[in-house]
Amino acid sequence: MVEMGAGARTGSVAAGGFTVIDRHPPAPDVLAAVREGLARRPRQLPAWLLYDRRGSELFAEICRQPEYTLTATELELLRRHAAALCAGCSPGTLVVEFGAGSVEKVSPLLQALAAPAYLAVDISASALQEVGQRLQAAHPTVPMLGLCADYGDLPDLPLPADWATRPRLGFFPGSSLGNFDPAEACRFLAALRPLLGERGQLLIGIDQPRDPTALEAAYDDGAGVSAAFALNLLQRLRLELGADVDPGGFRYRATWEADHSRVAMALVSVGPQRLRLADLEVVFADGEPLITEYSYKYTPAAFLALAAQAGWSGVDRRCDDADGFSVHRLQPAAAAPDCSASAV
Ligand SMILES: C[S@@+](CC[C@H](N)C(=O)[O-])C[C@H]1O[C@@H](n2cnc3c(N)ncnc32)[C@H](O)[C@@H]1O
Repeated sequence: MVEMGAGARTGSVAAGGFTVIDRHPPAPDVLAAVREGLARRPRQLPAWLLYDRRGSELFAEICRQPEYTLTATELELLRRHAAALCAGCSPGTLVVEFGAGSVEKVSPLLQALAAPAYLAVDISASALQEVGQRLQAAHPTVPMLGLCADYGDLPDLPLPADWATRPRLGFFPGSSLGNFDPAEACRFLAALRPLLGERGQLLIGIDQPRDPTALEAAYDDGAGVSAAFALNLLQRLRLELGADVDPGGFRYRATWEADHSRVAMALVSVGPQRLRLADLEVVFADGEPLITEYSYKYTPAAFLALAAQAGWSGVDRRCDDADGFSVHRLQPAAAAPDCSASAV
């Protein structure tokens, strides 16, 4: 299966007992997203473009760097509190994981639930196929499927008919909500309500603002894996979209921006240079950043306020000893979503 979508929106690939349904955005949509991002000020590419096969491998390596403590912290919370976090889930619950990545974090939930099923959603088809086979082998009795799609544009879940009535537990780990700005985050969470249904619940991992030096180091590790991850995006533009750009002409930077409560990750142009893509020519000034992703951080109170605007109410929160990272359990609120007030 190709990463950049060959236009097939309904294909599927099965291997090793794990089937992936392909709804990757087709190539023209990818090009349009790149065009739109390059026209912004500052220029900013969609974070999901970071994840092709190589990008997914590099992200898995980032998770093993000593500066990036998020993965180990969240995994420990899930292992320790799986039973409490799954409280209230009926037998037969379908776990829908958004941005499943290396699917390392879902096992404690699958073990805590009675007769679960599992749907892994991710933009990176090749990663999904490989890790899905491994997860299926580790949980042979759990029915599983993969869905290669943009979770920010998911009108429905293509489920087998006999899964349709299962109650749903959304799972969004890794603080990936932070890749959206707050208004987008509200709209994304609001869109999950109909996807997960009125009996649905949502488990979501949220990273909190803390020591700026530690946060910047987490996204700019000493081994240079975060830098390689960001630079891979330019390789991807070259190899898959035919862009004429020199990755060597950019250096990587991660900066804590306190006013926005976010880490900004950027490729900074070293000297003036041009990027050509299809009929587009973009001129970068010396020092001009190309934002590869933001990672917004939320205090528990700020996150719960955002969730409330999106129509969710918090029923449980588990955090590490330093209270720097939380897994929240949410259920649909009585009030309908209203994202008009959400701002940066
Ligand atoms: C930050 S990684 C987190 C991976 C894993 N969930 C974890 O917690 O370690 C984000 C994951 O979400 C996927 N992803 C990013 N943006 C996406 C999007 N818009 N739609 C679907 N998947 C996306 C990436 O391919 C990647 O696997």
